[in-house]
Amino acid sequence: MMPGVDDGSANMAMTGRMLQTASNEGIDSIILTPHYKPGHRHVTPGEIGEFADTLTHISDLRGWDMRFYPGNEIMYHNDCVAKVESGRICTLANTDYVLVEFEPWSEFDRIYNGLREFMYAGYRPVLAHIERYSCIIDKPGRAEEIHNMGCFIQVNASAVMGEEGRVVRVFTNRILGERFADFVATDSHSDTTRAPHIKKCADYVERKYGADYAARIFEGNASKLIEGDEIR
Ligand SMILES: [Fe+2]
Repeated sequence: MMPGVDDGSANMAMTGRMLQTASNEGIDSIILTPHYKPGHRHVTPGEIGEFADTLTHISDLRGWDMRFYPGNEIMYHNDCVAKVESGRICTLANTDYVLVEFEPWSEFDRIYNGLREFMYAGYRPVLAHIERYSCIIDKPGRAEEIHNMGCFIQVNASAVMGEEGRVVRVFTNRILGERFADFVATDSHSDTTRAPHIKKCADYVERKYGADYAARIFEGNASKLIEGDEIR
């Protein structure tokens, strides 16, 4: 939602339309997660925090009562844990939760060990869009390993709804069926192709996997994360 950062919103007008959509979808809290990838131009944690405050102010003016928090989607790399520790990369909403992604073709050892490294440093990692890693899609039991090691698992609403193809839909539904998903998120990048839609998915998950689980992964866990509370 931060305009002019990597492949996200093009400008403030687009961000405004994204906010309108998010508000219509019943979203009341948003963590900004601009990519942090080595070799890319980055916005600083200070800029992300300031922009989160600006959006909170704008939504107050529009009467939406939405809250915005700083964050990053961290592409795992050599010294990324040290960069979080030194404050060059944002955790999620200033807590010890961090959103971590890996290249889609990563071997499972790299994902497993990368997440472990964050845990050893005292962080609580959330694995971003688990449906993108071929080493896990090919061996879905590995989602349980991630879950059992105490990491959290995020899936994209579009993947659940079949917009990323049948294989990904089947995989994400399996993860939901086994109750291994902890968060469903929009992966919003713009106001059109990847807009912040989530309501249809929330309704679907509620129908198919029950109201309790849906309430947890669309709302409860996210609220706990923002407060820095234990999720499980
Ligand atoms: Fe990502």
